[in-house]
Amino acid sequence: MYKAFFKLARNPFNLTPDPVCFVPTKRHNEALAALYHGVRQHKGFVVLTGEVGTGKTLLLRCLLGLLKESKDVAYAYLFNGRLSPTEFLQYILSDFGLPATGKSKYELLLDLGHFLASRGSRKMTTVLIVDEAHHLSADILEEVRLLSNLETTDDKLLQIVLVGQPELDEKLDSVELRQLKQRIAVRTQLGALDADETKRYIEQRLQIAGEEPHSSPLFSEEAIATVHCYSRGLPRLINTICENALIAAYARRLPSVTPDIVGYVAKEFRLDVASSSDGEKAERHNQMDAKRAMNALLDLFAALEDVSQTIQTQVRL
Ligand SMILES: Nc1ncnc2c1ncn2[C@@H]1O[C@H](COP(=O)(O)OP(=O)(O)OP(=O)(O)O)[C@@H](O)[C@H]1O
Ligand SMILES: [Mg+2]
Repeated sequence: MYKAFFKLARNPFNLTPDPVCFVPTKRHNEALAALYHGVRQHKGFVVLTGEVGTGKTLLLRCLLGLLKESKDVAYAYLFNGRLSPTEFLQYILSDFGLPATGKSKYELLLDLGHFLASRGSRKMTTVLIVDEAHHLSADILEEVRLLSNLETTDDKLLQIVLVGQPELDEKLDSVELRQLKQRIAVRTQLGALDADETKRYIEQRLQIAGEEPHSSPLFSEEAIATVHCYSRGLPRLINTICENALIAAYARRLPSVTPDIVGYVAKEFRLDVASSSDGEKAERHNQMDAKRAMNALLDLFAALEDVSQTIQTQVRL
């Protein structure tokens, strides 16, 4: 409804991860290059992690766009990891276009093995992509490990891309999954945007949506800085704030978004300003941890001294 008012061709801050709206920040570019080269160079196992709403699924869609350009690539794309090991294999086979219903796990693995070997012998690339991989159970992660073992003497037959929130890093770093961790060939991360990136992000999304390059900007510099403070540079939150700020500006028939409007929207969404004392808080926590550790050490020394005195007394006796 506000599109016509602001002379935009499309909604600039849509929440769906649409590659048309991709803004290539340095971090997103590096991560995309790492995923693409990991897959194309048959590295085997590639992992992308990042906070909620940092653009992981969007990046995967961009990756799929690039992979689709090559005829020798087939992929299975899984975005719901809450499956049993057999369902997991059934899903992968079906997505590769192979019959899977009613087959036992043994048959599924055999069929998948033949499929991968046949593609491998023709030097083709086969990829398994798992989004939301932080939800994968230990059982499924074990299946993933076994699948990553499918290889010839000189090539990995299945390229595996795991994508998820930071809990995935924690899982992969756990002692139980150290075998899986050792197989990761490429590991890359996405994070929040800094103030300059947030500015470029908002400007570019507005341009993609059809904002005239020479018209007066829809978001003032101060409004953008305020969006950065409330969103903490997380792209999904930036979108939510900007979309609602445009609606509020339209409702008030204002030609552009002001910092006040951004503040009003943030209040409606119960968002706090990223306080400049966040860093100080972390620092305070570190200091408290260090103090606690020091106290524990002092207690230990005191206890040791007691023990040593008791021993000396007993020796003397
Ligand atoms: N580099 C970018 N360019 C354009 N839009 C982006 C970019 N990064 C993120 N976004 C936008 O931010 C929103 C969230 O992105 P996405 O859904 O990919 O996040 P996510 O990391 O997968 O989140 P979750 O952890 O919740 O699955 C989407 O609207 C997406 O279009
Ligand atoms: Mg996602």
